[in-house]
Amino acid sequence: MEGRLINPVSGLPDTKNAPEADSSVLRVWGGHSLRGHVKISGAKNSALVLMTGALLCSGDCRIRNVPRLADVERMAQVLSALGVKIHRDGETLDVNAREFTTSKAPYELVTQLRASFFAIGAILARLGVAQMPLPGGCAIGARPVDLHVRGLQAMGAEVQIEHGICNAHVPGNKGRLKGAKIYLDSPSVGATETLMMAATLADGETILDNAAREPEVVDLANFCNSMGAKITGAGTSTITILGVSNLHSTDYEVIPDRIEAGTFLTAAAITHSELLLSPVVPEHLLPIIAKLQEMGVNVVEEAPNCLRVLPAAVLKAADIQTLPHPGFPTDMQAQFMTLLALAEGDSLINETVFENRLRHASELNRLGADIRVKGNIAFVRGVHSLSGAPVLGSDLRASAALVVAGLAASGETTIKGLQFLDRGYDRLDLKLQQLGAKIERVREVEADIAIATATNTVQPA
Ligand code: EPU
Repeated sequence: MEGRLINPVSGLPDTKNAPEADSSVLRVWGGHSLRGHVKISGAKNSALVLMTGALLCSGDCRIRNVPRLADVERMAQVLSALGVKIHRDGETLDVNAREFTTSKAPYELVTQLRASFFAIGAILARLGVAQMPLPGGCAIGARPVDLHVRGLQAMGAEVQIEHGICNAHVPGNKGRLKGAKIYLDSPSVGATETLMMAATLADGETILDNAAREPEVVDLANFCNSMGAKITGAGTSTITILGVSNLHSTDYEVIPDRIEAGTFLTAAAITHSELLLSPVVPEHLLPIIAKLQEMGVNVVEEAPNCLRVLPAAVLKAADIQTLPHPGFPTDMQAQFMTLLALAEGDSLINETVFENRLRHASELNRLGADIRVKGNIAFVRGVHSLSGAPVLGSDLRASAALVVAGLAASGETTIKGLQFLDRGYDRLDLKLQQLGAKIERVREVEADIAIATATNTVQPA
């Protein structure tokens, strides 16, 4: 990254001013074991939603342990466009929404980052009016926002969707939402967060039933409570929010990223390595650790916030069904598919959360895996080895799964599609390098030359 412009908010190469950053690729030479300790960054899906939660208060919100991610940078741009002041110093983000008066979020930013739609709850709660472009579908599924909208309507908002914009306002009651009893058809993480934020400043009590129980939902509730909100029950299926008239300043630390930790656990498992990971909340990782143990990988709690992963002699096959928390997380499905590709025996993966999240299977097959996909089910027949090849990540977790595969594949794997990886992993390549992985980030053109040279060596023209 030397010599490039670094964006002050994300800490990543500035993609606006350095066009070459978008076209970089990762080169990985597999077969090397990892060792040492890896520091886990703050949780992406907490940090993003806490940033929108800061809209609820007109005082200073200090958010610590914020990961360096392209998505954090985009969220900062959305908030800035609404009139919010944001300053980053290392992993600390200072957000001040005193002069936040704009209710209209910019189309070109919201459509790039689904989490920014979740701000509709906080904007409506603060201003009584919000105009939010629909986030649209993405590579992993259609991802509608009907549950968000219906919940806000139950709280008294009038919502109209026209020309791709969700226009919401609160008629009467001085623009203040009213507490309501809301049952979510499915425990959507985003809808739970949107409605929880909306309810913090509403008139009266809101009860969210069949709410999402993810650790990031609990983190948002704790963050709001640290500003004076009255939220109980987060982490269970019923969340109760007693509305207050305003919230105050806070200083809050984001929880560690359980999906980043899970990704490093799979990287250790696939390279038969011993690694230490901290800080983590072991309880957040239970479904991941249980599945690793079923596969023969031992994970022990070294200290309350530190895990040690020990190598398995042989990786055993296992079946996986993705489910809302505390079930097995969909955000770890791709990385486990890579691991199961090298396990002894046949495994079955059933992706039940998103309808189009198995696209990495075909890329893993390019590396020599034996995976068949039918609908939302992947049949994985374990193979003895993978062999490096150029591959393309189709979404964030798919890209991470390909990096994990590259660590085990013989020879060189070249991974394109890093714009996805950089959205959600805080310098994954650098962290792996520090653990001993042979991995480097180069410009695409350099990788193409290397591939052409290697091909020519084997098969002279
Ligand atoms: N859904 C609806 N209607 C809605 C909302 C959701 O039908 O109004 C459906 C979705 O289409 C999906 C299911 O419900 O099939 C679950 O979606 P959910 O709303 O729970 O997901 P999300 O809030 O959009 C968050 C994470 C995702 C993670 C999911 C599930 C953030 C910013 N994103 O998305 O993270 O996969 O929860 O745990 O918090 C990732 O980090 O790679 C990622 C995609």
